[in-house]
Amino acid sequence: MRNTRHARAALLAVAAAIGATTLHAQAQIDGALKAAYDKYKGLQEGKNADYIPALAKVDPNIYGIALVATDGKVYTAGDVKSEVSIQSISKVFTMAKVIDEQGLDAIVKTIGVDATGMRFNSIVAVEVAEKSLGGPEINPLVNPGAITATSMLKGTDRDSIWKDLLAYYSDFAGRPLSVNQEVFKSESDTNQRNQAIGYLMYAYNFIKSDPMRATDIYTEQCSVSVNAKDLATMAATLANGGKNPVTGKQVIKTENVPGVLAVMSTAGLYDDSGKWLYRTGLPAKSGVGGGIIAVSPGKFGIAVISPPLDEAGNSVRAQKAITDVSNAIGGNPYATKPR
Ligand code: DON
Repeated sequence: MRNTRHARAALLAVAAAIGATTLHAQAQIDGALKAAYDKYKGLQEGKNADYIPALAKVDPNIYGIALVATDGKVYTAGDVKSEVSIQSISKVFTMAKVIDEQGLDAIVKTIGVDATGMRFNSIVAVEVAEKSLGGPEINPLVNPGAITATSMLKGTDRDSIWKDLLAYYSDFAGRPLSVNQEVFKSESDTNQRNQAIGYLMYAYNFIKSDPMRATDIYTEQCSVSVNAKDLATMAATLANGGKNPVTGKQVIKTENVPGVLAVMSTAGLYDDSGKWLYRTGLPAKSGVGGGIIAVSPGKFGIAVISPPLDEAGNSVRAQKAITDVSNAIGGNPYATKPR
């Protein structure tokens, strides 16, 4: 029994390493998804975000897991059709677009690529970067860095910048995405803190154009509606050198993927990024809509949607389910084997 288990694990690891999945390995992946789904279905921890009023109304029982392997195979468990707003997961793809347009150095010089260790909308983090660290020492995955990244997108006017950004996200997802207008309005009506952050970044010369336009586009990008399969496909595109494994389209330049994954590793789950990396080894990103994406480089992208969040603003079920699935199928890139 023990030997059989070892043999299966070895087979799975090999299949995953070459990016191809045998029927046997496929059954194992399906089994891992189902086991994680069942294990956490009854979990009653966490609470929907409510500082954006529309998010408080989302059904907390939505729960789905999707995994897209780099060979294009899609695995699902639970509800992978219901859509939630992408929220902070969008920050990854805006950062990716800025890097694609301006190169890896653009982000390092203007925003930084270091974890703040503080909450995602911390103003203190900006003050510390400006006053104590003396410059761009934050990152594009916390609100100040994300609004700054949005301000850096190329385009002649708001409409064309937005159209190009949504098209870029859609290429990652492999289908045309759209905005949840109720969420967009709700957050626009209540985002005074982000407006203040936008102005602060402008005052400190991180943002060099109209900070309210950047905050508005940022708010709209957070309102893009996605299901678990969309998110997993977006993650899988990063797992596959920037080429969407379902549509075959090269979305982000291959050479830019490692930089994006690095920032996801150090800052994707905010002040809990270290704990997350310790348990999974996976570059990841959460959103207050309840989604989390994670990338096993060269192997798969995985996403879970479940709206109830913990104190740091990360989905409780999504963290647990992704950890279980990835560890069961050998997703941790740091898990080396002795020769
Ligand atoms: O700016 C905000 O507060 C939201 N639109 C996004 C925050 C978020 O998703 C943080 N993630 N866990």
